[in-house]
Amino acid sequence: MLAAAHEMNEQQFLFLQQLLTDRTGIRFRGRDHLAIKLSRRLRCLGLSDYDRYIALIRREPDELAHAIEAVTTNETFFFRDAIHFSALEQYMGKQFDAKREFKIWSAASSSGEEAYSIAMTVHAWAAARGLPLHTLKITGSDIDRSVLRHAVEGIYHRWQIERTPADYRTFLLRHLEQGGEDFFSIKPHIRSMVRFKRFNLTEPIPFIGTLDVIFCRNVFMYFSQDLRNEIFTGMHRALKPGGLLVMGLCEPLPASLLLGFTSMGHAMYVKTE
Ligand SMILES: C[S@@+](CC[C@H](N)C(=O)[O-])C[C@H]1O[C@@H](n2cnc3c(N)ncnc32)[C@H](O)[C@@H]1O
Repeated sequence: MLAAAHEMNEQQFLFLQQLLTDRTGIRFRGRDHLAIKLSRRLRCLGLSDYDRYIALIRREPDELAHAIEAVTTNETFFFRDAIHFSALEQYMGKQFDAKREFKIWSAASSSGEEAYSIAMTVHAWAAARGLPLHTLKITGSDIDRSVLRHAVEGIYHRWQIERTPADYRTFLLRHLEQGGEDFFSIKPHIRSMVRFKRFNLTEPIPFIGTLDVIFCRNVFMYFSQDLRNEIFTGMHRALKPGGLLVMGLCEPLPASLLLGFTSMGHAMYVKTE
């Protein structure tokens, strides 16, 4: 009965699609895709149809943020695509200079697992060499406020830990403390290395030539080619010469975009000019 009440007609689809694609860059596969994503929100509000929802979204500016939370895909886990974390260690070996800040941006960090995996990796690397840690600065950002709240909190359920690649599980557990039977929190020495903030990748990237590493993984697939090109240009500008860009393994850059980068394989790129 509920599913029938939440059917979306073409006019409703066109309005919501345009609004949400404009704000997030996310493209929808069609009416059903968007209706499935939003119907939970309608149920949560006790609304029976999309006309009422559209009236609400026009009336209440804050509802747009909830709609954005409903349409994002936040799938992530600790040490996802582990090859990128071993590559980060190697990169640190070549580029880290204890006399200056080393800045890393996790550009679609979801609930924080990626940014904390980065922090654990660089922490272990620097600590093993007796190098100072205060110069390591990690920023995680996302468009979705609810996942950012989770990231800041830094508390994860057992099942979120169990998804970690087996080789990294013991390492991860060293940086977590158990709080209750099923929950683990990030220990303060890692938590303090990362700050989180809201950032929408459709907006101009504010950094210019100041970043050492950018992780931008598993988000390009939702964007149009034009938006990908724009973000990619912004990321090139944001990196220092020699900076490292890490994309999702399923989102390698087309050769036409590689000007100014050298490919390192596995969807990683070093800025050459
Ligand atoms: C699939 S998760 C990827 C998380 C992590 N990077 C990883 O690879 O595990 C994609 C994230 O991109 C975020 N996202 C989608 N559109 C965005 C936008 N326009 N600006 C910033 N973040 C966005 C979503 O909220 C979601 O948390």
